[in-house]
Amino acid sequence: MSAPAAAAPAPPTSHLRIEDVVKRFAPGGAAAVDGVSLDIEAGEFFALLGPSGCGKTTLLRLLAGFETPDQGRILIDGADMEGVPPYRRPVNMMFQSYALFPHMTAAENVAFGLRQDRLPRAEIAARVAAMLDLVKLGHLARRKPHQLSGGERQRVALARALAQEPKLVLLDEPLAALDRKLREETRFELVRIQRRVGITFLMVTHDQEEAMSMATRIAVMSAGRIVQLGTPQQIYEAPASRFVADFIGGVNLFAGRVVGAERGLLRVDCAEAGAQLLVEHAALAPGSDVAVAVRPEKITLTPEPEARNRLEGRVLGAAYRGEASTYEVELAGGKLLRVTLTNTQRTIRPLAAGQAVTLAFEPAAAVVLPP
Ligand SMILES: Nc1ncnc2c1ncn2[C@@H]1O[C@H](COP(=O)(O)OP(=O)(O)OP(=O)(O)O)[C@@H](O)[C@H]1O
Ligand SMILES: [Mg+2]
Repeated sequence: MSAPAAAAPAPPTSHLRIEDVVKRFAPGGAAAVDGVSLDIEAGEFFALLGPSGCGKTTLLRLLAGFETPDQGRILIDGADMEGVPPYRRPVNMMFQSYALFPHMTAAENVAFGLRQDRLPRAEIAARVAAMLDLVKLGHLARRKPHQLSGGERQRVALARALAQEPKLVLLDEPLAALDRKLREETRFELVRIQRRVGITFLMVTHDQEEAMSMATRIAVMSAGRIVQLGTPQQIYEAPASRFVADFIGGVNLFAGRVVGAERGLLRVDCAEAGAQLLVEHAALAPGSDVAVAVRPEKITLTPEPEARNRLEGRVLGAAYRGEASTYEVELAGGKLLRVTLTNTQRTIRPLAAGQAVTLAFEPAAAVVLPP
């Protein structure tokens, strides 16, 4: 007797599933979004990061339903969004410009979507009050947008995006209009609010520091495609390509050729460094062309005598930033390196231009990338 056929297991469903989505604005033209697949879980604070024009806003607009994909599918909690208009999707978008209604007060702006949903008056009032409290603007409920600061307007827009209790909030450059100090404060605030409401946030930014400090995971985009996906630490410490290494933070790159491998270390001949470098990496065929990437803060200017990867150079200039200083160092062959030192003392003596220095970095501090 044969066993009864087991029921086919339900396909795993993510909160948001994007399957091979393509969007072209002109037939036969370049794809603004070029085959993006992505799974985002409920409660994540996810960031899309990439240079201007790489397709970030277009991807958000596809999710919100303001654009239609030429190919591929978008599923929210397993439901296909094809043909579902924006106002019927469990999604709210906070636009880069905030797009507040200028003639309405803060409270009326927050109430707008709830009125459209025809919620009872008392419930609208209660939700608006709760949302304005959440963003700490209860006392400014009767102000109109022109009577609010940029940061306050940003918080009204956020309250409006959250008021209808969407499952997913899309934020397009939510902090772009704020000055630097307010931006840094608002980062923490936005993360706190997201944790408190538990709604999934998908944020677009071209600011790598913003993405790294706020997001649980990041997708780095380039020319309509996702080129790397991971936690902030994975993206920073293990970039998969020169593009990602260079886009996320500062990096020193050496072109080189593999000479051989010894005990988990790869020996790479780098003419630019005027040396053979040792990098912790699985063996690669001798003769392979690679790039060796080292972050500026992982280079030391006071190496131990037995330190590996020693390089001789000369200081060209220094940028003092308060908490750290970044030096530009020229190697004998003319290659320029950046080296960042933390200013742990108040009375540091900056290295003078022209000063000869010895640099070094640990084999584990560098990453081997495709050339
Ligand atoms: N409505 C449109 N019609 C034609 N092309 C468009 C349209 N919207 C966007 N594009 C093009 O699609 C590409 C991606 O644009 P998108 O706005 O998604 O970029 P982005 O990553 O959001 O950039 P930014 O960081 O500058 O906001 C760009 O080349 C842009 O010129
Ligand atoms: Mg954009």
